[in-house]
Amino acid sequence: MNALPVLDPQSPQARAIFHLAIVAGIIFAVIFAIVSGMVVYALMRCRWREGEGDPKQIAGNKTVELVWTAIPFLIVVTLFVLTWKTMGAADPPPAPEPDIVITGHQWWWEARYSKSGVVTANEIHIPAGTPLSIRLEAADVLHEFWVPELSRKMTTVPGQPNNIWIQSDHPATYLGVCSEFCGTQHAWMHFLVVAEAPAQFQAWEQAQLAPAKMPAGGNAAQGLALFQQTSCINCHAIKGTVATAGVGPDLTHFASRKKLGAGIADNTPENLQRWLADPQQVKRGVKMPDYKFTESQVTQLSAYLETLQ
Ligand code: CUA
Repeated sequence: MNALPVLDPQSPQARAIFHLAIVAGIIFAVIFAIVSGMVVYALMRCRWREGEGDPKQIAGNKTVELVWTAIPFLIVVTLFVLTWKTMGAADPPPAPEPDIVITGHQWWWEARYSKSGVVTANEIHIPAGTPLSIRLEAADVLHEFWVPELSRKMTTVPGQPNNIWIQSDHPATYLGVCSEFCGTQHAWMHFLVVAEAPAQFQAWEQAQLAPAKMPAGGNAAQGLALFQQTSCINCHAIKGTVATAGVGPDLTHFASRKKLGAGIADNTPENLQRWLADPQQVKRGVKMPDYKFTESQVTQLSAYLETLQ
């Protein structure tokens, strides 16, 4: 990941925007240089000197006025045409059926793959080299989906789906963010876009489609029992169990994900236990309440969730 990802486009869509920004930047730099150069020249060349009277007074010059009307007009027309072309390349009309429906929630992202039916959260896998049509929705308030290397920004609006295309030239992992303020944990609404070789992507999709494995015994089995008895199931889904709710992230393959809490911590057993012990300590304001689980309950739940590869 680049420190300034917006300057490092990795898709035709992002490259089109980047190139427009470069061309516009050069035009603006030239205008700035000419204007400031003329101001400095005038200050030095034309300042009042001892013993000089007023210079010759000139009012109106048709040629000058025509030139300084025509040049900005040409610049505006050029920028208009370039922007028009960039919009066509960076933001073509959406596909009739989106490849992925991505929903912004306070404060995480849900991804539903239309064809396969895979449902996941905060870690969006895509096949490298293929443009994907993304439909963006919002579950609560305005959010904004942005992967600087891959595409433009797009707001997610409750009740009004928006569409963008994303694509990655080659396999790589990109950081995505919410770029519209949406409440307490707006800053921790990160996600990863994992672009993989097509075969690897298909393997990932197959693995995500499988229902959760049933633990054979021990802490993990007790954790599953606890999960199904408590209010975890009011918000989360784990395919293959009684949990089918869609309020919080789908946890069917929770352990396959690199991050937890929409990027706030690495998905390690220690961080998961801290999260389960009191989510508010890890991510203040998160919609998951503190259930005041005992230490052994936290151990059991974490043992179970860690099996969800
Ligand atoms: Cu969602 Cu900011």
